[in-house]
Amino acid sequence: MTQTSVVIAPLAIPATLDAADPAAADFIAAGRLLNDHMLELWGNSDFHDTPETQLAGCRPTPVRRRVLLAARDGDEILGLATLGLPLADNTHSAYVNVVVAPHARRTGLGSRLYAAAEQAAAAGGRTTLLGETEHPAQPEQHTGAIAPKSGTGTIPADAAAAFAAAAGFTLEQVERISLLNLVDASVGREALDDAAAAAGSDYELVFWRGPCPDQLVDSYAVLRQKMSTDAPMAGLDLEEEHWDAARIREDERKARDMDAEVLVSAVRHRPTGHLAGHTLLMVFNANPAVAFQDDTLVLREHRGHRLGMLLKTANLIRLGRELPQAARIWTWNAAENDYMLAINDQLGFEPVGYSGEWQKLRPAR
Ligand SMILES: CC(C)(COP(=O)(O)OP(=O)(O)OC[C@H]1O[C@@H](n2cnc3c(N)ncnc32)[C@H](O)[C@@H]1OP(=O)(O)O)[C@@H](O)C(=O)NCCC(=O)NCCS
Repeated sequence: MTQTSVVIAPLAIPATLDAADPAAADFIAAGRLLNDHMLELWGNSDFHDTPETQLAGCRPTPVRRRVLLAARDGDEILGLATLGLPLADNTHSAYVNVVVAPHARRTGLGSRLYAAAEQAAAAGGRTTLLGETEHPAQPEQHTGAIAPKSGTGTIPADAAAAFAAAAGFTLEQVERISLLNLVDASVGREALDDAAAAAGSDYELVFWRGPCPDQLVDSYAVLRQKMSTDAPMAGLDLEEEHWDAARIREDERKARDMDAEVLVSAVRHRPTGHLAGHTLLMVFNANPAVAFQDDTLVLREHRGHRLGMLLKTANLIRLGRELPQAARIWTWNAAENDYMLAINDQLGFEPVGYSGEWQKLRPAR
């Protein structure tokens, strides 16, 4: 059955969330749809975002623009497609996500939203479409398990996977989604001291919360740039991102606008003065029990000195001191990323689900 009364149209990103702003109510309703979906998926509010955070996350920046498309029946928003368009690099690509309210599924709305998103991506000159599906299930529960082209891991053949395949996407890679319960974690000074001893005196830890110190920002930009391609990427059609001091500052400004705390631990290589690696934890103040592990990188020429373990234990200890309300940490790792997964396992992270990284290549016109 097709819902013919439903119209697919762009959704404006409002200037403010004031009721007087004509775009505010629809934006808030669309954000609620996304929050409801994450609650449905994970059975908890760990991914709940406030409308303020969602708005700050959607505003255009020099490196990324977002397009929102809504499926609307009268005043009711029944579905949403979001499109992320990189602007500073990877301008051949677009990230797409589609969510339809449970009571409106299997009526073709997802397909109509996706078609509109693909059209908007094409209008922006994008030929590579990327999407992610999440599956909170252990491998033994993966009914009709689907393996990615990378060959490692599986996801279940559920609605999200069937939808992505029906839209013409290929499963390139699987990521393991893991959770560390900090209440039970026993990461402490000893693990940090062991890793520091193994790393030796050529390396020293440096920390910042919020802005990176001016004297380190160029070196930090090198790490962020390398991070964009150094983790395993299977067959995903992505190029190295361009990072410089201005992009670091822009990223920090955005985190502030989203009311997020960012804790970075880095190691400095004393003989050269350059940073050799970093790790980053993020906590949204509106949801202080939940931390997200972002980047962890050690530059190739500095690998094999236990710096990954040193960085991670140092940042976990800092998290406990600086943001003591944080009770758990979520992280995503490529299923084939044995080194990172081994460190995470030692720290006590447990697998709680898998994500599928999908890709569709459109012929350039
Ligand atoms: C995935 C989702 C967007 C599909 O929306 P929808 O409006 O139900 O999708 P459609 O009705 O347009 O279905 C299109 C095709 O997807 C596949 N599909 C969708 N739901 C399916 C299901 N539950 N089981 C099997 N196949 C399914 C089918 O091939 C379907 O074509 P068909 O109806 O002709 O068989 C919706 O289930 C949803 O919002 N899920 C949660 C969010 C999510 O996982 N999004 C995917 C990330 S992009």
